[in-house]
Amino acid sequence: MQRLHARLPSRSYDVLVGRGVLEALGAALRDVVDGAQAVVCTDENVAPLYLEPASSSLRAADFEVSHVVIPAGERQKTLERVEEVFGVLYERGFTRDDVLVALGGGVVNDLFGLVAATYLRGMRLAQAPTTLLAQVDAALGGKVAVDFRAGKNHVGTFYQPWLVVADTGTLATLPPRELRSGAAEVVKYGLLAGGALMAELEAIAERGGMRPDDVSDVLVSACAGYKIAVVEDDEREETGRRAVLNLGHTIGHALEVAGGYSRFTHGEAVALGLRATLRLSVAVCGMPPDEAVRGESVLDRFGLPARAARLPAEQVVRLIRRDKKAGRDGVRYVLLEALGAPVTGVSVAPELEEEVVRWITGGAA
Ligand SMILES: NC(=O)c1ccc[n+]([C@@H]2O[C@H](COP(=O)([O-])OP(=O)(O)OC[C@H]3O[C@@H](n4cnc5c(N)ncnc54)[C@H](O)[C@@H]3O)[C@@H](O)[C@H]2O)c1
Ligand SMILES: [Zn+2]
Repeated sequence: MQRLHARLPSRSYDVLVGRGVLEALGAALRDVVDGAQAVVCTDENVAPLYLEPASSSLRAADFEVSHVVIPAGERQKTLERVEEVFGVLYERGFTRDDVLVALGGGVVNDLFGLVAATYLRGMRLAQAPTTLLAQVDAALGGKVAVDFRAGKNHVGTFYQPWLVVADTGTLATLPPRELRSGAAEVVKYGLLAGGALMAELEAIAERGGMRPDDVSDVLVSACAGYKIAVVEDDEREETGRRAVLNLGHTIGHALEVAGGYSRFTHGEAVALGLRATLRLSVAVCGMPPDEAVRGESVLDRFGLPARAARLPAEQVVRLIRRDKKAGRDGVRYVLLEALGAPVTGVSVAPELEEEVVRWITGGAA
């Protein structure tokens, strides 16, 4: 097991990473929570697999345990769902000292995180991520939100948990496409951090791609540790330091939207965005071309898409320029000077931006 510690202005907490750590959930939570009740909140896919182990660990630590189970999927991230869960907590007499355990992927982490952040102005929260994406990203950093009308994550806040328990053993049941999708975010950290993390990803790629057993505790905690360090410097996304986490996301997000959120998973779109970013990094920041090739070949070996063929390049460019991160002087990119050496706030000439989008959407280079 790996134990990380997040030291944030608003709160400090442990992040436990390892196979089987869900069994330690109750005891670890007892150290930081006084309340009598715990509600485990999860979705219909995760419940049959991990609700019981999580609940029995909590019972063993003297929590009175109940559940909330919702259907799976992004469409659950609504204010209506938040209100419904408020009703359950109200009926069951929850207090601020009681704890909500969000057990599942990023959807569960975001939705129930927002519930915990706002019920009684904030009750105890533990994140127990069960997807690779949530273990290296969504369950860390304190962003909680629901979607509102066309706005993804449009209504939310920053709210740090009291504990994060990332059981890497739960990844064994993850659908392969979801695992690959999380792997794209892992590659993002590999490119940002370079060094040993990148080398580990190349070793996994060499073995033929990422399987659940390849996701070691060390790998997840290296990614989680990178994110925590960034968030410690910029908890509320105010200093610009947190921007590095957007590597590959400016173009990736535009591709995700252009694909109607259905053609690509978030991770697949990020993988495409990372490929485009590597190309821009060589052209604009002098990244050594062989390092960019190393990044691309890991994405290849992980089975992540190479091109967003047949998406209209003009629409993607429009979406990029409309991106909420676009400053007054156009879009600012996170690029790499080398593996492990990100630079933020880089502007890219419009012609080059268009060329790279034509390339990633399968048009002429
Ligand atoms: N708050 C943040 O900082 C942050 C960061 C990145 C993404 N997100 C959010 O995360 C969400 C995406 O998260 P996700 O990719 O984890 O999706 P998800 O929560 O929808 O999970 C993916 C699918 O896997 C299933 N599942 C989860 N764990 C499983 C397991 N161990 N075994 C079998 N099936 C399992 C789920 O039921 C779901 O069907 C998006 O809503 C995104 O906005 C938030
Ligand atoms: Zn992402």
